[in-house]
Amino acid sequence: MEPQNNISNAFCSSLLLFSMNLLFLQHVSTATHLGNETDRLALLEFKHQVVNYRDGTLNSWNDSLPHCQWQGVTCSYRHQRVTALNLRGHGLVGSISPHIGNLTFLRFIDLRNNSFNGEIPQEVGRLFRLRHLNLTNNAIGGAIPVNLSRCSELRIIELATNNLVGKIPPEMGSLNKLVTLFLRANNLTGSIPHSVGNLSSLEQITVTFNNLEGSLPIQLGQLKRLTYLSIGVNHFSGMVPQTLYNISTITSFSVGDNLLKGSLPANIGLTLPRLQLLSIGANQFSGTIPYSITNVSELQVLDLPENNVKGPVPNNLGDLKNLRILNVGINLLGTNTSQDLSFITSLTNCSNLQRLDLDGNNFGGELPNSIGNFSHQLTVLGL
Ligand SMILES: *[C@@H]1O[C@H](CO)[C@@H](O)[C@H](O)[C@H]1NC(C)=O
Ligand SMILES: *[C@@H]1O[C@H](CO)[C@@H](O)[C@H](O)[C@H]1NC(C)=O
Ligand SMILES: *[C@@H]1O[C@H](CO)[C@@H](O)[C@H](O)[C@H]1NC(C)=O
Ligand SMILES: *[C@@H]1O[C@H](CO)[C@@H](O)[C@H](O)[C@H]1NC(C)=O
Ligand SMILES: *[C@@H]1O[C@H](CO)[C@@H](O)[C@H](O)[C@H]1NC(C)=O
Ligand SMILES: *[C@@H]1O[C@H](CO)[C@@H](O)[C@H](O)[C@H]1NC(C)=O
Ligand SMILES: *[C@@H]1O[C@H](CO)[C@@H](O)[C@H](O)[C@H]1NC(C)=O
Ligand SMILES: *[C@@H]1O[C@H](CO)[C@@H](O)[C@H](O)[C@H]1NC(C)=O
Ligand SMILES: *[C@@H]1O[C@H](CO)[C@@H](O)[C@H](O)[C@H]1NC(C)=O
Ligand SMILES: *[C@@H]1O[C@H](CO)[C@@H](O)[C@H](O)[C@H]1NC(C)=O
Ligand SMILES: *[C@@H]1O[C@H](CO)[C@@H](O)[C@H](O)[C@H]1NC(C)=O
Ligand SMILES: *[C@@H]1O[C@H](CO)[C@@H](O)[C@H](O)[C@H]1NC(C)=O
Repeated sequence: MEPQNNISNAFCSSLLLFSMNLLFLQHVSTATHLGNETDRLALLEFKHQVVNYRDGTLNSWNDSLPHCQWQGVTCSYRHQRVTALNLRGHGLVGSISPHIGNLTFLRFIDLRNNSFNGEIPQEVGRLFRLRHLNLTNNAIGGAIPVNLSRCSELRIIELATNNLVGKIPPEMGSLNKLVTLFLRANNLTGSIPHSVGNLSSLEQITVTFNNLEGSLPIQLGQLKRLTYLSIGVNHFSGMVPQTLYNISTITSFSVGDNLLKGSLPANIGLTLPRLQLLSIGANQFSGTIPYSITNVSELQVLDLPENNVKGPVPNNLGDLKNLRILNVGINLLGTNTSQDLSFITSLTNCSNLQRLDLDGNNFGGELPNSIGNFSHQLTVLGL
């Protein structure tokens, strides 16, 4: 009896296990089903807020296909949850439905180059897996939602060329994985929050063409991975924090068209050795052009016009073999003496030079004959 009992016990328990497995599987499948049904409803709400679309993109969003096969929708293989929404450049007009916040598996949103208007719903803050948000080139207004700062996986935020107003939320400082922050060409006001210094992964920031003001926070200098800084055409004032000139990774430093003061540090060529673009035009910079700049071998653009920069132009700028644009017009350079233009000769070594602006200064003397030896690329010569 005993062995038989054992067998039947074993049989019973495997039957039990089997039915538990079945239950478990059913549970998983119900959960998946509920999850993807939430996604489907959220996508339909999203479609509902799109009042017009040019090329029939959203026609495929209908019951004849599972939503994971709708155009622009990508789902995870395993759980069939929506992970990406890629609807760039389809002429979509309408607003972004708050129901987008129900697509909680979303990692990637690309709605760039459409005509979305309305505001970015606070509900995006529920997308805690979101890594990549590109809404560039739409007509989105309102403020940057504070709740976006809850999407702690964000790497890329691109909201350029919209109608955003209001301040940059200080709460965004918590996005410690953020690499790219592009807010160019909006109507943002206020200043750059001090919390920017907490964006420890940040490599690229552009806020060009806004209505930002105030001084640049010293905390910008904490961004040890920064390569691209572009804050031109705003109303920033005060001194540029010296800490910014200490971020050796910077390749592009563009602060033109503001009310900034200060002078370029004498050792800039040593502290910013990877610069390709230095653009500080139309500000109130003073001081001289640092000689060390000729050590920045990758420099392509040196753009300093409309400031109060004085003194001589370094006469070995020709060491900058990659120089394409040299604009020092409308400053206080030169001493009205015959030595002033000697730097021109060395520039004949810059075989990529396309543009040279020297007008509106205090240069004296005669143009050297070497001016005939300029690069054939030269198309603008401003004297
Ligand atoms: C939703 O999940 C259920 C259960 O896994 C599956 O049968 C169904 O095809 C899924 N629907 C879509 C649109 O993926
Ligand atoms: C989606 O989210 C909203 C809140 O934002 C909620 O009211 C609604 O019930 C959700 N819809 C579904 C289908 O889960
Ligand atoms: C539904 O989507 C399918 C697949 O794109 C398409 O062939 C069909 O015309 C659509 N139906 C309607 C009513 O738009
Ligand atoms: C944006 O989309 C329009 C068509 O809607 C297209 O002509 C244009 O080239 C696109 N622009 C970009 C930058 O992709
Ligand atoms: C925004 O975030 C706050 C918490 O910071 C939360 O209470 C609120 O529900 C969120 N709003 C939406 C619309 O998700
Ligand atoms: C976001 O969209 C803009 C505009 O089309 C594009 O230039 C940029 O490369 C996009 N960003 C990413 C990370 O794809
Ligand atoms: C930006 O906002 C200001 C007021 O804050 C307004 O006067 C101006 O017209 C706006 N500019 C654009 C381009 O919307
Ligand atoms: C920056 O981060 C530190 C610690 O990580 C935190 O104590 C501080 O409050 C944050 N500052 C801002 C302005 O977010
Ligand atoms: C720049 O870095 C150097 C060397 O690390 C340091 O001595 C100096 O104090 C820094 N200057 C500023 C303004 O941060
Ligand atoms: C350029 O760097 C070298 C060391 O690499 C240094 O000796 C020289 O003084 C620097 N030139 C200028 C103009 O700073
Ligand atoms: C430059 O020097 C010449 C004489 O060498 C003088 O006539 C002229 O006024 C000076 N120009 C300026 C702007 O100082
Ligand atoms: C141009 O560069 C060469 C090699 O670096 C150097 O020998 C020469 O003196 C330079 N010419 C001028 C005009 O600076």
